[in-house]
Amino acid sequence: MTEVDRYRPDDKRAVDALYKRVFGIDSAEANHLRWEWQYRHNPHRPADGPLIWLAREGTTIIGQYATMPVKVSVQGREIDAAWGMDVMVAPERQRQGLGEVLFRTWDRNVGASLGLGLSESSYRLFQKMRWPDLGPVPCLVKPLTRRALRRPGWSITANRLVSALTLPWIRLVARTRPLQGEVRVIRNFDESFTRLWDRVAPQFAFAVRRDAAYLNWKYIQAPHVRYTVAALERDGVVAGYIVYRHLQEARGRVTIVVDWLTGPDDHTGLLTLLRWVDREARAVDSDKIRAFAMHAGYRKLLRQSGYFTVKSTMEFVAKINAVELTPSFYKSADAWHITLGDSDQDR
Ligand SMILES: CC(C)(COP(=O)(O)OP(=O)(O)OC[C@H]1O[C@@H](n2cnc3c(N)ncnc32)[C@H](O)[C@@H]1OP(=O)(O)O)[C@@H](O)C(=O)NCCC(=O)NCCS
Repeated sequence: MTEVDRYRPDDKRAVDALYKRVFGIDSAEANHLRWEWQYRHNPHRPADGPLIWLAREGTTIIGQYATMPVKVSVQGREIDAAWGMDVMVAPERQRQGLGEVLFRTWDRNVGASLGLGLSESSYRLFQKMRWPDLGPVPCLVKPLTRRALRRPGWSITANRLVSALTLPWIRLVARTRPLQGEVRVIRNFDESFTRLWDRVAPQFAFAVRRDAAYLNWKYIQAPHVRYTVAALERDGVVAGYIVYRHLQEARGRVTIVVDWLTGPDDHTGLLTLLRWVDREARAVDSDKIRAFAMHAGYRKLLRQSGYFTVKSTMEFVAKINAVELTPSFYKSADAWHITLGDSDQDR
């Protein structure tokens, strides 16, 4: 007889062992490093412990759904929600309906159940259960050097030819442009960022509440990644922020824009922050900059800044339970603000 209930501290060892079996040793080690921060230090963690459900059979744990509680603004109304993250069923028990039981338990207990960057198996299960599908979240890339266009499948000669032919265009796209407003690197989000959120939140059909407590937890205190945060001020008032980091990938050096917030109608605000990131990326010799953006207005500004849309596999599903919505709400996600920083996508 399978029972589903909440995680208790003495479950840790058994859950770790299951995690290793399902996701492998490397993922389990990485999960270890994040666990306390991700589940215990989340500012929206319920008083009775992390929002994790376990499937038990006697004393054996055979499945888990670990989630990240957040507040979400839906057409100006704030509701409790949770990103579904580490869901797993013991290999020998998969495809027997247990995943569905865990998904339904999570969904029954939250104001909105959200999924981002899904594995093939969980995406299929969301589809089978008819979760509204809004993805994938568009991916945009800005080339900064000729190396940005290299393809592993092409010969050296072909790569060189493409590099030579596209050089004038890369130079044009990647040219430096002036900043408008004061941009500075910050090490802490103070309450002026909560005020920024309160001002701009009603302009989104959907966005996770980006207040100071959430932002500090997500981008300053994260133990597994180091972010840089730049803030934009105008006349002493915070008008926006942008979070980014640099990393080495197999095909070159990349700067990733992880998250940002400006008024969606404040065009110079986001353009200025993007120009700041351009300079930072050039300073560390990045070949390209990558961002994920759902909001159509932000995407337009990214394209205006020299970004191009490329294929994305970052699937996004969202089911809102706490407020009545018409089916048309899910028809377009153009006014939804979703980035790579949402959920635990950037690990
Ligand atoms: C995702 C997972 C939790 C689903 O649990 P489950 O108990 O197998 O799910 P259920 O039996 O309730 O549902 C089965 C449905 O899930 C989907 N599914 C499950 N495994 C799948 C797979 N390997 N490939 C494609 N679809 C799969 C299908 O829609 C399937 O329906 P079907 O059997 O009629 O084709 C489980 O497959 C798992 O642990 N996967 C590995 C870990 C993982 O990828 N986690 C998600 C991280 S985002």
